Amino acid sequence: MIAGVIGATGYAGAELVRLLSGHPEVKGLALSSVSYEGDRIEAVYPNFSKGVSAALDKAERVIKNSGVVFSALPHGVGEDYGKLCMEKGIPFIDLSADFRFGEDEETYTAWYGKPYKHPDLRAYAVYGLPELNRRKIKDRAAGGRVIVGNPGCYPTAASLGVFPALARGLAGPGTVIVDAASGITGGGREPGRAFHYPECADAVIPYKVGSHRHTPEISRTFAAMAGGNAPGVIFTPHLAPMNRGILSTSYISLAESWQSRAASGAPRPPGGEIEEKTGKIRELYAEFYRDEPFIRLLPPGIAAASNRVRQSNFCDISVHLDQAGTTLIVLSAIDNMVKGAAGQAVQNMNVIFGFDETAGLTAIPSLF
Ligand SMILES: NC(=O)c1ccc[n+]([C@@H]2O[C@H](COP(=O)([O-])OP(=O)(O)OC[C@H]3O[C@@H](n4cnc5c(N)ncnc54)[C@H](OP(=O)(O)O)[C@@H]3O)[C@@H](O)[C@H]2O)c1
Repeated sequence: MIAGVIGATGYAGAELVRLLSGHPEVKGLALSSVSYEGDRIEAVYPNFSKGVSAALDKAERVIKNSGVVFSALPHGVGEDYGKLCMEKGIPFIDLSADFRFGEDEETYTAWYGKPYKHPDLRAYAVYGLPELNRRKIKDRAAGGRVIVGNPGCYPTAASLGVFPALARGLAGPGTVIVDAASGITGGGREPGRAFHYPECADAVIPYKVGSHRHTPEISRTFAAMAGGNAPGVIFTPHLAPMNRGILSTSYISLAESWQSRAASGAPRPPGGEIEEKTGKIRELYAEFYRDEPFIRLLPPGIAAASNRVRQSNFCDISVHLDQAGTTLIVLSAIDNMVKGAAGQAVQNMNVIFGFDETAGLTAIPSLF
């Protein structure tokens, strides 16, 4: 099969090229670029030399020549390509937010500032978080036409960390607090003051506090998993001085039945009831993710960290309790460019075509 990538010279596009070039079912790549049309990808990214060789063409020709198309364009510019793919009857996997909200155009417009260009395309759209929607993605694909709204990077990390707590009745009625830090590739290749080396290389910088666009997406995935009892979300993102990776820390008030009997609020030393309860929660998480190929639940005492999933499609999760025994603290780590973008998109392609879900995604993380 030929896989097409529209926007192949952006960070997420180039990561798709890297992953797809090693995919056992992908026999060739068709790539597009506006700025570099006529050049070759290995000239734009010399790291691809002797590994990937492909010309950069127009998006329309990429669609004509491909059996599946990935769009790695900014929000609001790729809908026409989705329409062409539906007319041709090939899957369209979109890494922007344009198809993540399905029929909920109101929320999309409120946070992304523009209406849908082709609202009718949402009939084919499915939110592409396989750990939540694997069955729906398969069903949509079996229906003949599918558009995958590939999830945002922060929502992927936060949701995978919190899902078992929502699904297994661990979470109480309170708000879930999500603090997360991302590497600088999360901002894309377009230069900007916030990503200028002297301004971001030696600091952890909070941004869009209380107003980040991923908040409604996180809220929707929580609701999809929790049903009627979805908790609220407070989300604070940070830019961290690293190229790749997201570490998300979620604070979840435990349901009353899980609260410590001696929950006076006073911290207690490690061990005893806290350790025992953490073990039980960990067992629930392990059971919930038993068959998931990309979730790694870490052993007790090891906290998830962004460097141990680097360049891989894994999501590492560790569960902890606060010392009063009232709050579950979940750490989840992903590579924003892989499980948070291109890798998850390839995983979605695997689900759509019935390939082994790990095909092309078996790389072991690079620690350094
Ligand atoms: N970076 C991440 O970690 C990450 C994670 C999850 C999701 N995403 C999403 O993936 C998409 C791509 O992100 P990115 O980080 O790769 O951004 P990026 O590095 O800025 O790349 C986007 C590419 O799209 C092309 N482009 C830009 N404006 C365009 C326009 N108006 N019309 C057509 N093409 C245009 C440009 O390539 P040419 O000029 O060569 O065509 C550009 O290099 C975004 O929607 C982003 O939100 C990114």
